[in-house]
Amino acid sequence: MSGNQRQAPLAAAMKAYAAGGALAFHTPGHKQGLGAHPLLKELITGAGLRQEVSLMAELDDLNCPNGCIREAQALAAELYGADDAWFMVNGTTGAIQTMMMAALEPGDEVLIPRNAHRSILGGLILTGAVPVYLPPVLDEQLGIAMGLTAETVAEGLAAHPGAKAVLAVYPTYYGVTFDLASVAALAHAHGAMLLVDEAHGPHLPFSGELPAEALALGADMAALSTHKLLGSLTQTSMLLAKGPRVNRERVRRAGSLLTSTSPNYLLLASLDIARLQMAEYGDALVGRAVRLAEGVRAAVNDTPGLWCFGPEYLGRPGAEALDATKLTVQTAWLGLTGAAAETVLRRDYNLQLELTDAYNVLFLLTMADTEREAYALIKALKDFALRHRREPLARTRLVLPELPVRKLTPREAFFAPSEAVPFALAAGRTAAEEIGFYPPGVPLLCPGEGITTALLEHLQAMKEAGLRVSGPEDPALGTIRVVR
Ligand SMILES: Cc1ncc(COP(=O)(O)O)c(C=O)c1O
Repeated sequence: MSGNQRQAPLAAAMKAYAAGGALAFHTPGHKQGLGAHPLLKELITGAGLRQEVSLMAELDDLNCPNGCIREAQALAAELYGADDAWFMVNGTTGAIQTMMMAALEPGDEVLIPRNAHRSILGGLILTGAVPVYLPPVLDEQLGIAMGLTAETVAEGLAAHPGAKAVLAVYPTYYGVTFDLASVAALAHAHGAMLLVDEAHGPHLPFSGELPAEALALGADMAALSTHKLLGSLTQTSMLLAKGPRVNRERVRRAGSLLTSTSPNYLLLASLDIARLQMAEYGDALVGRAVRLAEGVRAAVNDTPGLWCFGPEYLGRPGAEALDATKLTVQTAWLGLTGAAAETVLRRDYNLQLELTDAYNVLFLLTMADTEREAYALIKALKDFALRHRREPLARTRLVLPELPVRKLTPREAFFAPSEAVPFALAAGRTAAEEIGFYPPGVPLLCPGEGITTALLEHLQAMKEAGLRVSGPEDPALGTIRVVR
């Protein structure tokens, strides 16, 4: 690792510009905080506002970097063992869509797990690529989708030999990983790229106790949510590339197409600083999160009525290993859906979790947590389990509906004339919009897919379980927008 890893070139350039005291006749309109409303000053310190600038030559240009941004991106690439890194200010959504726009063309087939995030649907609409959905392994006990098996990917590639890419989600939101090395080998043997939505894995390289990261296993590109699990500001992510298959100029052009010409420098600097933090203390901080999470997992599993799966539950195709910092606690044994448990945990313990599903709640421990937070979580969960014990929930709900029948590509359906029809009368029609639940933001119905009665029943059951509808025009699900 180069000695430059102890520097933050982009953050340093911003500081130097502010310190220079140049009289500002440029954007942004608040002029380095001079005209900022007191409420904005409360949000961002004076020093922060002074550095909230852009477009000066010494601050470089994200769309065509050749100065401090280029240096900062090169340091990020080095730390992650990538050939290239691109900073993203429109979240991992932006990183994924840039990756897809760089790798795919209209009409290209791309293999995608059905539990993919909605940003991938956006990438399909933008590129005009054709999704071939693969079923992830479903775990009945947990009621969640896990990863892909190499066998499923092999079958998909055999049935679609012209596929241009496999787009894997690794790890899953719940921290489950699978045999990505075999998926990479299969994709490459077929002349396809392996693109990875690694939103939930930006911390993986910093602890030997965590599963390996996607690039180390053969991925060509990976989109990382630096903001989700490391120390950068919300909305910031990185796109990484390694090896000969990636057309760098296409990535640059796609990124430039999808990115503002005025990216926020506080966001960009936060990526530079998050990389610096990992270079300096990554092993210690992420290692601590793993140890704390293991302690919480053991304590939860020692509590009657609660269960938090660990690596011993995995070790099978499609669900091989676990990022220990993800704590999925099953509340179904207490007779509570995840959503009901979330309400109680927030109301009675002032504890906010990351995600709920029909049977579980998900807690994240990150490099920010200490023994104090871990202990508070254990204490709250033990008390919660003691006070809320009813009959276990009956397990009747499907995790994911059947794989859809595609009538149109997502792009064709997005641009097709459409109309809203009553929910109950939508079976047999072709969806013009997406419907999912947030989090995790996985669409269960995508534009261009045939609507079935089974799917309508599934959506209804999820809504009744208290999960938050996301995507459609009518979140009450009174109507669905379909292709006219
Ligand atoms: C698996 C997955 N991919 C992509 C994203 C999109 O990330 P962002 O919110 O940074 O755009 C998310 C967000 O939750 C996600 O869970």
